[in-house]
Amino acid sequence: MREQTKPAVAEPARMRLTLHVWRQKNRQSAGRMVTYAADHISPDMSFLEMLDVVNEELVAKGEEPIAFESDCREGICGSCGIMINGVAHGPKRETTACQLHMRSFRDGDEITIEPWRARAFPIIKDLVVDRSAFDRIIQAGGYITAPTGGAPDANAIPVPKPDADFAFEAAACIGCGACVAQCPNASAMLFTAAKVAHLAVLPQGQPERYARVARMVDQMEVELFGNCTNHGECSAVCPKGIPLDMIGLLNRDFRKARITGSPMGDEKP
Ligand code: SF4
Ligand code: FES
Repeated sequence: MREQTKPAVAEPARMRLTLHVWRQKNRQSAGRMVTYAADHISPDMSFLEMLDVVNEELVAKGEEPIAFESDCREGICGSCGIMINGVAHGPKRETTACQLHMRSFRDGDEITIEPWRARAFPIIKDLVVDRSAFDRIIQAGGYITAPTGGAPDANAIPVPKPDADFAFEAAACIGCGACVAQCPNASAMLFTAAKVAHLAVLPQGQPERYARVARMVDQMEVELFGNCTNHGECSAVCPKGIPLDMIGLLNRDFRKARITGSPMGDEKP
């Protein structure tokens, strides 16, 4: 009887990369770029898995691993933001760093990896920044106070389809901060606009509509984010494709809130 041979399984190609990574011990200390070799990297790994491999090697050598944030690794939590070759979340459009695969790079590439750089996002360690300024903007107005009880039937409150689609598009913002990191002014307009817009077009969001926008914009300024000067870099790197139209809605609502003379937007125009 002829011996059956298994078909040879081709070894997956491996990549060799050179990484230049920002290392910074803590908020107070000065940081610097450190170069690492990343060998045996599969093109099918995600960018964060590639960093995991580098970290395993650092730990094996008794060195401090590179600190970076991640949680879902599915593009939904917003925690994994890093600058990759000067672009927030890297070279692939509408893709978070955790969903970016190493096949987007070439064998032998040099890759520069840095944290978000913005005054409102101080560096905690290496690639990890403090994005609690975003939480405080949400706390300032990103809620509704109407008692809504349990979840109503889907069609109990009629919402026109274009409004529902617009609200859904705005609600896709994952609060990653890429828009701030890429903006030359470190403006948080796209993030704030998305949070304002997703409630502004729904019936449930109407009672506080103008108070909300005034409070959130005021908080954005308190947190030392820059102003929007229409560069559009924010939307270009947003992993959820939040469009600049959201900023248009924010500006219109903010003007209405201010024209009515309510500094905290407490009255509905
Ligand atoms: S608007 Fe886009 S880039 Fe900005 S925080 Fe939201 S998802 Fe991230
Ligand atoms: S780890 Fe959650 S979006 Fe990347």
